[in-house]
Amino acid sequence: MSTSPSPSPPGPGVLDAALDRAFGHPSGLLGRLGGKLMTVGNAATEHRIVDLARLEPDETVLVVGPGPGVGLDAASRLAGEVIGVEPSPQMRELCTDRCGDRAEVRAGDAARTGCEDASADVVLTVNNVQLWEDRPAAFAELFRVLRPGGRLLLSAHEKWLPVTRHELAGEAAAAGFTDLQTWTWDPPGFAALAAQLRAVKPG
Ligand SMILES: C[S@@+](CC[C@H](N)C(=O)[O-])C[C@H]1O[C@@H](n2cnc3c(N)ncnc32)[C@H](O)[C@@H]1O
Repeated sequence: MSTSPSPSPPGPGVLDAALDRAFGHPSGLLGRLGGKLMTVGNAATEHRIVDLARLEPDETVLVVGPGPGVGLDAASRLAGEVIGVEPSPQMRELCTDRCGDRAEVRAGDAARTGCEDASADVVLTVNNVQLWEDRPAAFAELFRVLRPGGRLLLSAHEKWLPVTRHELAGEAAAAGFTDLQTWTWDPPGFAALAAQLRAVKPG
């Protein structure tokens, strides 16, 4: 009897590529699915970071990597001016659908925000530090766009962090940030433990 080889499971490379298409660099059908999953799965963390930022109505907020725009939307209901910088055209479309003209959505990334020096009071970034190709350049860029006294709030699934949260705080300090605080937060539901960080650009 001849036996035909049974189909082998997809290798880790295929799985990694699919995850990247869905969540890391969302595009196509997987990006659409990822956008829906992130809208639900990461909502609590996005709201948590907006809450921690204590936004004021006269503040300008930069949201880096907003994905489907849950945090961007929440920030846009509290702050005076809100800008989202997002490399994925598909996610930019979702942000615009969600926020309308309450937020400006631009192409860019953490190391290239297109914002002017000292133009933002607050930078928020959730679940994308693990995607920054050059973290020192990205921290330097976020430091540049914050006004003196401006604050950075960052959150990411701890298990996906490329370095420990304390090392991440060290990288932020190397870019000039002070008053570094880092902690973990357990979101409600099934979302993974979040590593979070707060930092200030000295006044
Ligand atoms: C895992 S999703 C997180 C989206 C959203 N903040 C959330 O938590 O649901 C990562 C997002 O970061 C964006 N991204 C990828 N590389 C980036 C970079 N270098 N700088 C800023 N954002 C990036 C992706 O396009 C994607 O929308």
